[in-house]
Amino acid sequence: MRKALVAANWKMHGDRARIAAFLASFAEGNGAAGASLDDRSRVETVFLPPACYLEGASGAAASAGFALGAQDMHWLASGACTGAISAPMLADCGCTFVLLGHSERRQAGDADEQIAAKCLAAQDAGLTPILCVGETLAERDAGSAEAVVERQLRTALAHAVPEDLCIAYEPVWAIGTGRTATPAQAQGMHAVIRSWLETRFGAAGGNVRLLYGGSVTPENAGSLAAERDIDGALVGGASLDAETFRKIIVAVAQSASEPT
Ligand code: PGA
Repeated sequence: MRKALVAANWKMHGDRARIAAFLASFAEGNGAAGASLDDRSRVETVFLPPACYLEGASGAAASAGFALGAQDMHWLASGACTGAISAPMLADCGCTFVLLGHSERRQAGDADEQIAAKCLAAQDAGLTPILCVGETLAERDAGSAEAVVERQLRTALAHAVPEDLCIAYEPVWAIGTGRTATPAQAQGMHAVIRSWLETRFGAAGGNVRLLYGGSVTPENAGSLAAERDIDGALVGGASLDAETFRKIIVAVAQSASEPT
C-alpha cells in the first residue's frame, strides 16, 4: 500500500514571516487550518520552500507534521560551484526530500544527464528525489507525450534505485496555467510510468509513489487522487495559502482511502 504524499512547492515565493505563519497554522492543535489528525495521518506532507529558508523552517516544519525538501540541488557533494548547494548540505539542514528535474529548472538549462547525476547524488546523501517528468503542449499535440516521459525516466533514473524515490508527472502545459490534465489523462500517463517502473525495477517499481502536478486545486485534487496510479499531488500556486492547501490534503486523504 503506497501512502499518499502531498508536496507544497513554494517556488520563489514567500519570506520568513509568511513561512512561519503558514507552518504555524498546521501545527498540532491548531484547528484553523490544520486538517483533522485522521486526515494528516493518512497523507505524508512535504514543504519545499526557497533554499535560503530551509534551515530556519526545519523546526516549525517538523512541528507542523511536514517533511522538509529543497527545490533543486547540484550533483557534486562539494567543489568550486559558486551559488550551488549540494545534497549533503541539504541533508545537513534537515531536508529529507528534493525536487529534481522540475520543468522550470529544465527550461533554465538542466539536461537529462545532469538530472540523472542529481538523482544518484540525492539518494547517496539519503534524500528522496521527487523526479519531475512531463511533456510540453507541442509534444502532446505531436503524439509524443509518452515517448518524451519515457525518455526522461530512462535517462534520469539510469543510476537510481527504486527505494526512496517519488515521481511527479507534471505536464508542462498544466503548470501555473489553470489548465489541469483530466483525471483520465493523468491516470493514462501514470499507468505508462508505473509500467515503465515495473519493467525497470520489478516489483519494487510498484511501490514508487507517483504524484500529479499542474494546477492542482481543492476542487480537482480528490478526483485526481482517486485514480489507481495517482498517489498524491505536487502543488505550486495553491500551496501558498494554508487554508487552500489544507483542503487539498483533506481531499487527497479522503480519495486515497476509498478503494477504486
Ligand atoms: P502549479 O505548479 O500547481 O502552480 O501549477 C505546480 C508545480 O510547478 O510544481
